[in-house]
Amino acid sequence: MHTAIRISGIAALALAALAGPRLAAADQPLFDVTVLAGACANCHGTDGRSPGSIPSIAGRPEVALKQQLLAFKSDTPPAGTTVMGRLVKGYSDEQLSALAKHFSQISKTPAAQEVAKQ
Ligand code: HEC
Repeated sequence: MHTAIRISGIAALALAALAGPRLAAADQPLFDVTVLAGACANCHGTDGRSPGSIPSIAGRPEVALKQQLLAFKSDTPPAGTTVMGRLVKGYSDEQLSALAKHFSQISKTPAAQEVAKQ
Protein backbone atom coordinates (compact mmCIF):
# COMPACT_ATOMS: atom_id res chain seq x y z
CA MET A 1 0.00 0.00 0.00
CA HIS A 2 2.61 2.45 1.17
CA THR A 3 4.99 1.27 -1.53
CA ALA A 4 2.33 1.61 -4.19
CA ILE A 5 1.82 5.25 -3.30
CA ARG A 6 5.54 5.91 -3.42
CA ILE A 7 5.91 4.19 -6.79
CA SER A 8 3.03 6.12 -8.32
CA GLY A 9 4.63 9.29 -6.97
CA ILE A 10 7.89 8.42 -8.71
CA ALA A 11 6.00 7.52 -11.88
CA ALA A 12 4.28 10.91 -11.80
CA LEU A 13 7.63 12.65 -11.43
CA ALA A 14 9.07 10.64 -14.31
CA LEU A 15 6.07 11.52 -16.47
CA ALA A 16 6.42 15.19 -15.60
CA ALA A 17 10.10 15.07 -16.56
CA LEU A 18 9.24 13.45 -19.89
CA ALA A 19 6.39 15.82 -20.62
CA GLY A 20 8.34 18.93 -19.61
CA PRO A 21 10.53 19.44 -22.67
CA ARG A 22 7.70 18.56 -25.04
CA LEU A 23 5.40 21.12 -23.46
CA ALA A 24 8.17 23.72 -23.66
CA ALA A 25 8.71 22.98 -27.37
CA ALA A 26 5.24 24.18 -28.20
CA ASP A 27 5.93 27.82 -27.43
CA GLN A 28 9.68 28.25 -27.21
CA PRO A 29 12.57 26.92 -29.28
CA LEU A 30 14.82 24.25 -27.79
CA PHE A 31 17.96 26.23 -28.56
CA ASP A 32 19.54 29.40 -27.24
CA VAL A 33 20.29 31.75 -30.13
CA THR A 34 23.07 33.51 -28.21
CA VAL A 35 24.88 30.17 -27.93
CA LEU A 36 24.43 29.54 -31.66
CA ALA A 37 25.61 33.07 -32.44
CA GLY A 38 28.82 32.48 -30.48
CA ALA A 39 29.93 30.12 -33.24
CA CYS A 40 29.86 33.02 -35.73
CA ALA A 41 32.10 35.33 -33.68
CA ASN A 42 35.39 33.67 -34.68
CA CYS A 43 35.00 34.83 -38.24
CA HIS A 44 32.42 37.64 -38.17
CA GLY A 45 33.78 39.33 -35.05
CA THR A 46 32.32 39.75 -31.60
CA ASP A 47 28.58 40.40 -31.97
CA GLY A 48 28.90 40.14 -35.76
CA ARG A 49 31.05 43.25 -36.12
CA SER A 50 33.96 42.04 -38.18
CA PRO A 51 37.36 43.70 -37.80
CA GLY A 52 38.74 42.07 -40.95
CA SER A 53 37.88 41.10 -44.48
CA ILE A 54 34.97 38.80 -43.58
CA PRO A 55 31.74 40.81 -43.86
CA SER A 56 30.10 42.25 -40.75
CA ILE A 57 26.63 40.88 -40.14
CA ALA A 58 25.51 43.04 -37.21
CA GLY A 59 22.68 45.49 -37.81
CA ARG A 60 21.82 44.22 -41.27
CA PRO A 61 18.13 43.77 -42.16
CA GLU A 62 16.74 40.50 -40.79
CA VAL A 63 15.17 39.58 -44.13
CA ALA A 64 18.45 40.05 -46.00
CA LEU A 65 20.44 37.98 -43.48
CA LYS A 66 17.88 35.21 -43.57
CA GLN A 67 17.87 35.16 -47.37
CA GLN A 68 21.67 34.93 -47.43
CA LEU A 69 21.75 32.12 -44.87
CA LEU A 70 19.10 30.13 -46.72
CA ALA A 71 20.90 30.76 -50.02
CA PHE A 72 24.11 29.34 -48.53
CA LYS A 73 22.14 26.28 -47.42
CA SER A 74 20.47 25.75 -50.79
CA ASP A 75 21.77 23.36 -53.44
CA THR A 76 22.95 26.37 -55.44
CA PRO A 77 24.87 28.65 -53.03
CA PRO A 78 26.01 32.06 -54.36
CA ALA A 79 29.12 31.98 -56.58
CA GLY A 80 32.30 32.39 -54.58
CA THR A 81 30.90 30.85 -51.39
CA THR A 82 33.72 29.25 -49.41
CA VAL A 83 32.91 28.14 -45.87
CA MET A 84 29.34 29.32 -45.33
CA GLY A 85 27.76 26.69 -47.55
CA ARG A 86 29.11 23.87 -45.44
CA LEU A 87 28.63 25.69 -42.18
CA VAL A 88 24.93 26.51 -42.42
CA LYS A 89 24.02 22.91 -43.23
CA GLY A 90 24.44 22.19 -39.53
CA TYR A 91 21.55 24.51 -38.63
CA SER A 92 17.79 24.09 -39.05
CA ASP A 93 15.91 26.78 -41.00
CA GLU A 94 14.34 27.81 -37.69
CA GLN A 95 17.80 28.32 -36.17
CA LEU A 96 18.95 30.34 -39.20
CA SER A 97 15.87 32.57 -38.88
CA ALA A 98 16.64 33.08 -35.20
CA LEU A 99 20.27 33.94 -36.05
CA ALA A 100 19.15 36.44 -38.72
CA LYS A 101 16.84 38.10 -36.20
CA HIS A 102 19.55 38.07 -33.51
CA PHE A 103 22.22 39.78 -35.64
CA SER A 104 19.72 42.27 -37.14
CA GLN A 105 18.99 43.48 -33.62
CA ILE A 106 22.64 44.25 -32.79
CA SER A 107 23.74 47.77 -33.69
CA LYS A 108 26.41 48.11 -36.40
CA THR A 109 28.66 50.11 -34.12
CA PRO A 110 29.27 49.38 -30.45
CA ALA A 111 27.18 51.56 -28.12
CA ALA A 112 29.00 54.51 -26.57
CA GLN A 113 29.20 52.90 -23.12
CA GLU A 114 30.68 49.71 -24.61
CA VAL A 115 33.43 51.79 -26.24
CA ALA A 116 34.07 53.56 -22.95
CA LYS A 117 34.63 50.21 -21.19
CA GLN A 118 37.36 49.11 -23.63
C1 HEC B 1 34.97 29.87 -40.52
C2 HEC B 1 34.57 31.26 -40.60
C3 HEC B 1 33.09 31.60 -40.54
C4 HEC B 1 32.18 31.27 -39.57
C5 HEC B 1 32.40 30.43 -38.32
C6 HEC B 1 30.93 31.89 -39.96
N1 HEC B 1 31.08 32.58 -41.12
FE1 HEC B 1 29.62 33.61 -42.13
N2 HEC B 1 30.93 34.02 -43.62
C7 HEC B 1 32.26 33.61 -43.67
C8 HEC B 1 32.81 33.94 -44.97
C9 HEC B 1 34.24 33.66 -45.42
C10 HEC B 1 31.78 34.55 -45.70
C11 HEC B 1 31.77 34.98 -47.17
C12 HEC B 1 31.06 33.87 -47.97
C13 HEC B 1 31.88 32.60 -48.07
O1 HEC B 1 33.03 32.66 -48.51
O2 HEC B 1 31.38 31.49 -47.69
C14 HEC B 1 30.62 34.61 -44.80
C15 HEC B 1 29.40 35.19 -45.14
C16 HEC B 1 28.32 35.29 -44.31
C17 HEC B 1 27.09 36.02 -44.60
C18 HEC B 1 26.83 36.84 -45.85
C19 HEC B 1 27.47 38.18 -45.63
C20 HEC B 1 27.53 39.00 -46.88
O3 HEC B 1 27.54 40.23 -46.77
O4 HEC B 1 27.61 38.45 -47.98
C21 HEC B 1 26.27 35.86 -43.54
C22 HEC B 1 24.86 36.43 -43.38
C23 HEC B 1 26.95 35.02 -42.58
N3 HEC B 1 28.20 34.70 -43.07
C24 HEC B 1 26.42 34.62 -41.38
C25 HEC B 1 27.07 33.77 -40.49
C26 HEC B 1 26.45 33.26 -39.29
C27 HEC B 1 25.05 33.61 -38.81
C28 HEC B 1 27.38 32.45 -38.69
C29 HEC B 1 27.23 31.62 -37.43
C30 HEC B 1 26.20 30.60 -37.47
C31 HEC B 1 28.58 32.47 -39.52
N4 HEC B 1 28.34 33.26 -40.60
C32 HEC B 1 29.75 31.79 -39.23
C33 HEC B 1 32.95 32.98 -42.66
C34 HEC B 1 32.39 32.42 -41.52
